[in-house]
Amino acid sequence: MRIPLNNGGGHIPALGFGTLIPDAAETISATRDALEAGFRHLDCAERYRNEREVGEALQTGLAAWGIAREDVFVTTKLWNNNHRPERVEPAFDASLDRLGLEYLDLYLMHTPFAFQPGDEQDPRDQNGNIIYDNEVTLLDTWRAMESLVDHGRCRAIGPSDITLNELLPIYESARIKPAVVEVESHPYLPETELLEFCKKKGIVFLAFAPLGHGIKPGLLEDPVISRIATQVGKTPAQVLLAWAVQRGTAVLTTPKTLARAKENFDISAIPETALNEISRIQTRQRLNPVVKTGIPGFIPQG
Ligand SMILES: NC(=O)c1ccc[n+]([C@@H]2O[C@H](COP(=O)([O-])OP(=O)(O)OC[C@H]3O[C@@H](n4cnc5c(N)ncnc54)[C@H](OP(=O)(O)O)[C@@H]3O)[C@@H](O)[C@H]2O)c1
Repeated sequence: MRIPLNNGGGHIPALGFGTLIPDAAETISATRDALEAGFRHLDCAERYRNEREVGEALQTGLAAWGIAREDVFVTTKLWNNNHRPERVEPAFDASLDRLGLEYLDLYLMHTPFAFQPGDEQDPRDQNGNIIYDNEVTLLDTWRAMESLVDHGRCRAIGPSDITLNELLPIYESARIKPAVVEVESHPYLPETELLEFCKKKGIVFLAFAPLGHGIKPGLLEDPVISRIATQVGKTPAQVLLAWAVQRGTAVLTTPKTLARAKENFDISAIPETALNEISRIQTRQRLNPVVKTGIPGFIPQG
């Protein structure tokens, strides 16, 4: 299933494969497996430090299964140390080079937090605190990203790890409106207000950690999810992914084996009653604090 973008003709596959995988060899095998299973949407980031491996797997995958570049939707993200406008295009070029691509389908501002500009991705002071950059605004960075679209380097842009309050001023001032907003979302963090805003404005809401990042105990063992999975003859992961797609979001998941990639790609609609039951789950839990500080929550530090 593909969701239309507000960029004049583009579409994003609702089911995306996330490449936040710390191990290089595992990045290559998992990305190839995801392509083999049918995923045609890859979510990357310079901060994951594995764009080269993803690019390698993508090139072999395209050749092995006769897939055209245009048939794969590729996203990568600008990291916090590159928010200064003059750093945006070089960071973009470096990502493209590592991925071995000529253009990107989507370029995201990874977080709305600017860190000290420079080569250090996590610049810290003597006390170990992150050094932020107060000399650049989100709009400055956004304008530089808009110019990448103007020059045909990427087809759409968007923010990530952003709250509705932070999104509103960018949305208002943007010449090129955000096409996608990528945030953590699952039944324990439905982000309903942000989702409603996105739907109203034609922005695709792209959910990460739909399986609760695989953290146990967690969503995959939730009694409501498990009961529905048994009822519909699907796995808890398939139920969680179906819920996300049926509520109108795109979704990113990170299976690391071919069997799991096939499982996570093989989703089908669950009944309305099941959707409503999941939406009534009362547990509330944010798993990734990146939205509050810009410091990545799921990436090993150092
Ligand atoms: N914008 C941001 O700041 C941001 C932040 C976080 C993530 N993301 C993106 O979102 C992607 C997805 O996030 P996520 O990794 O948290 O997604 P997720 O799919 O919720 O969690 C992935 C974990 O779930 C487990 N898993 C996957 N399929 C399973 C299945 N069928 N049954 C049981 N367990 C399963 C795996 O655990 P095992 O380790 O056991 O294989 C895997 O590590 C990332 O790769 C990244 O691209 C973006």
